[in-house]
Amino acid sequence: MHATSIAHPARRRAQLTASDVSLLRGATRVLTSVDLVVTPSSRIAIVGENGRGKSSLLHVLAGTLQPDSGTVQRIGTLGVAEQEMSADDNRSVGEAIADTIAQPLAALAALNQAGAGLADGTPGAEERYAAALETAEALDAWDAERRVLIALEALGAETDPTRLLAELSVGQRYRVRLACLLGADHDFLLLDEPTNHLDRAGLDFLSERLRSRKGGVVIVSHDRALLADVAETIVDLDPTQDELPRLYGNGFAGYREGRAAERERWEQAYERQQVEQARLQDSLSAAQNRLVTGWRPEKGANKHGRATRAAGLTQSVHRRQEALEAHAVTVPEPPQAFRFPELRTRSGAELLNVEEATVAGRLSTPVSFALAHRGRLAITGPNGAGKSALLGLLAGTLAPDSGHVRLQSGTRVGALPQESSLPSERRAAEVFELHLRQLQASGVLTSNEAVGLTQLGLLRAREAGKRVGELSMGQQRRLDLALVLAARPHVLLLDEPTNHLSIALVDELTEALGATQAAVVLSTHDRQLLRDVSGWPHLRLGGSRAQSVPASH
Ligand SMILES: Nc1ncnc2c1ncn2[C@@H]1O[C@H](COP(=O)(O)OP(=O)(O)OP(=O)(O)O)[C@@H](O)[C@H]1O
Ligand SMILES: [Mg+2]
Repeated sequence: MHATSIAHPARRRAQLTASDVSLLRGATRVLTSVDLVVTPSSRIAIVGENGRGKSSLLHVLAGTLQPDSGTVQRIGTLGVAEQEMSADDNRSVGEAIADTIAQPLAALAALNQAGAGLADGTPGAEERYAAALETAEALDAWDAERRVLIALEALGAETDPTRLLAELSVGQRYRVRLACLLGADHDFLLLDEPTNHLDRAGLDFLSERLRSRKGGVVIVSHDRALLADVAETIVDLDPTQDELPRLYGNGFAGYREGRAAERERWEQAYERQQVEQARLQDSLSAAQNRLVTGWRPEKGANKHGRATRAAGLTQSVHRRQEALEAHAVTVPEPPQAFRFPELRTRSGAELLNVEEATVAGRLSTPVSFALAHRGRLAITGPNGAGKSALLGLLAGTLAPDSGHVRLQSGTRVGALPQESSLPSERRAAEVFELHLRQLQASGVLTSNEAVGLTQLGLLRAREAGKRVGELSMGQQRRLDLALVLAARPHVLLLDEPTNHLSIALVDELTEALGATQAAVVLSTHDRQLLRDVSGWPHLRLGGSRAQSVPASH
């Protein structure tokens, strides 16, 4: 959590301007000529594939990363929520709240002091009081603490002021920070993937707050429901034909439409050039053949005619070579698509059977359900209801304290955890290779069942060669997903699979989950994903007794 050093909110005068900003990270150019103006009424979303530079752009706007060229001007105060959250914050919840409202509290103290001066009749006291009153009013200082407390409650965040941030779970820590930012009254809020640790109620509160707040908002998000609710302008950092970012108006729908049309034009232009290339190449090969075989005329033909014919054929080859060069494919290749591997089903009535299972302290209400081959189940429920614990039981990483979890023998289970725990020093390709070797050595996978990393379309070769720590959060999550899919599971367990993933990939993944032969168990708060799987059976945790219910359509 941090705010810039600018002392007072600038309110209507506030403005955040990026002009012609370009940025390199390592040897990679991530931002090219970005222009952006953020005003107090802006509702801007930054979207794009994982690793495109969304977080980098937010850092540039916040001033925590210097652009390689271009300028950023900041007038006003900023509240920033970064995508990653360190666990080494040694403050308590109460201290975090106090820091958030330090300015309004100071303003109230100054007002009290000025009030006392007024009573004493100190010279100049009236002016000082008027100034202190203006500051306190500008900050709406009387209401500051209440605003933070409301946000803490609404997000389901920890409200016990004595709890230490470092001792909370990632999600709990995240919610405390977000509540403080939503409760504080900055001119601008810059939020990087703010939805990842929120449940349904928290998401609705966040959407409502961002829509109604007076200051400007810049969010980086893959959450399609939030974008549809909040964003008015969308900055798309994804590759384009001319390599410049695109700005779409008319909200999320405008972005969807504009982007689809643009992609189609790009694919068509690429296709046209490819076809033209192939045609010119054929014509050149034919001319080359004629040159090799055709210039040898019948025996006894005249020498002069032979020479002229050879010259003509050579010229024709040259002309075609020039034409081919002149029509080189200049349109870059359109981006990679996700290729979900073919996952097999297993016959048999039940792959998984859960009977009255509980985990002490994490899943207190007994859960029962059965999962058939090609079965589907969506698990929902508020934060802390035990969704991850239940997935842990199914994955076999947790044992039930009561009840049973039975898995048909020989069934391969692939679990995507909520949080990534990859070794940051290893290269992505190495992590993947090692995983495959282990799967083969333990007999889980035969060598002809193995899938290559780049085959999946999740990471390009260049990214696969990087160390995990140099990958963006979404790229790390893509590697996690690749590791799960590599095991060719019969049962897929996905804990908040859309977290950190790009919109395009989430769309592709949703489609693949609908079609795959494998059984799928999904835990998610993603409102759009829940709409998309509304035909699946749902299991809602957090009630008095959790039981599988039929599809909710
Ligand atoms: N610490 C770093 N060192 C070197 N390169 C980095 C570092 N952090 C990020 N990068 C690279 O910069 C590029 C942009 O990263 P950034 O985190 O801005 O992407 P992003 O769009 O926010 O991605 P995501 O959707 O995964 O959050 C990526 O290709 C990444 O590999
Ligand atoms: Mg990011």
